[in-house]
Amino acid sequence: MNIPTMPSSHTSSKISLQQEFPLLDSIAYLNHAAVSPWPSRTVDAVTTFSHENATQGSKHYLQWVNTETTLRKQLQQLINADSINEIALLKNTSEALSVVAFGLPWQAGDNIVSVKGEFPSNRVVWQALKPKGVELRLADVNSANPEQDLLALVDKHTRLITVSSVQYASGFQLDLARIGAFCKKNDILFCVDAIQTIGALQFDVQAIQADFVMADGHKWMLGPEGLALFYCRAELLEKLALHQYGWHMTDTFTDYDNNNWQPVDTARRFECGSPNMLGIHALSASLSLLLAFGMKNVEARILENTRYLFDHINNAKQLILLSNMNEGRYSGIVSFRHRTVDNDRLFSLLTENDVMCAQRGGGIRFSPHFYTPREKILHALGIAMQAR
Ligand SMILES: Cc1ncc(COP(=O)(O)O)c(C=O)c1O
Repeated sequence: MNIPTMPSSHTSSKISLQQEFPLLDSIAYLNHAAVSPWPSRTVDAVTTFSHENATQGSKHYLQWVNTETTLRKQLQQLINADSINEIALLKNTSEALSVVAFGLPWQAGDNIVSVKGEFPSNRVVWQALKPKGVELRLADVNSANPEQDLLALVDKHTRLITVSSVQYASGFQLDLARIGAFCKKNDILFCVDAIQTIGALQFDVQAIQADFVMADGHKWMLGPEGLALFYCRAELLEKLALHQYGWHMTDTFTDYDNNNWQPVDTARRFECGSPNMLGIHALSASLSLLLAFGMKNVEARILENTRYLFDHINNAKQLILLSNMNEGRYSGIVSFRHRTVDNDRLFSLLTENDVMCAQRGGGIRFSPHFYTPREKILHALGIAMQAR
């Protein structure tokens, strides 16, 4: 099988992707936009952590805290944050979005601008502000000029623009730098659900001038569910009202008897209690693989896979590509449908033939990662093309 290798110039070129992903021997895993498999090193990290807990309890807790700091640094590197003080470790994307939505001081008549077709995490939370008199305005992301249509919804009552960096069903990428620049110029907050980008494509919070960014680790970051990155730009940390309190978010958090505490002035203020140490060990291990391979290389491989899928789908008369092929608009997600076979049947056929993928947005969604060999993608395409 043609399994991509680590770039030869890289010091970690001895990493075997076959060993890291034993599932390569069996299934065609094209479902990283849903829930990803763990690399072997993550399995090892969890096993070691479990064994340590069983045999020594928390004897080495300080080392666990070091892993927690390592994870914050890895996440900082992945998104080019200024400092780890801008990074909180929360439960999931939805929780981070809720911290923003219910932390900002809204006034009746304010509005939020977003696009139609967002994953519900990035819709429901804003709709929940309706009782406060806050309106959610949605532009059509499938229009000829989605950024222009999005920005046309902005008026003097717009307080925040919120979008996914990559649309979960189609893989479409909005021009985040353009939206971020507009927000900056017009004093509007910019919130980005980046779960379909981080770990797949290079991402730079400073280049896009984002104020808030969130992403759970279980998709392209190859980690477990239930541990998410929340980035909050330093100047905004104290602008979000807190709704959860506990020992871990104070400035005196190791001094248990201190009654004279304040919320700490870093993003730890959003982490009320004990951290998810198991998840931290797992996610840190997963990210070490992506960072060793290099995000530039990861992105290049993923976009090559996407173009490979585009070519084959476009050449197959029976398949219709649903994703946008324009440069800068595509990502790791490719959606298509069959001209005559309905999606449920096509999905069953793929699943029966060991292809892990998803049904989203009226089509079949393939989302291979950087390590996915061409043979597996071709196998999946073959099933789709031969479907009756
Ligand atoms: C764009 C987007 N946001 C958020 C989520 C998941 O949110 P959470 O981490 O809260 O489960 C998904 C999952 O499919 C998604 O595609």
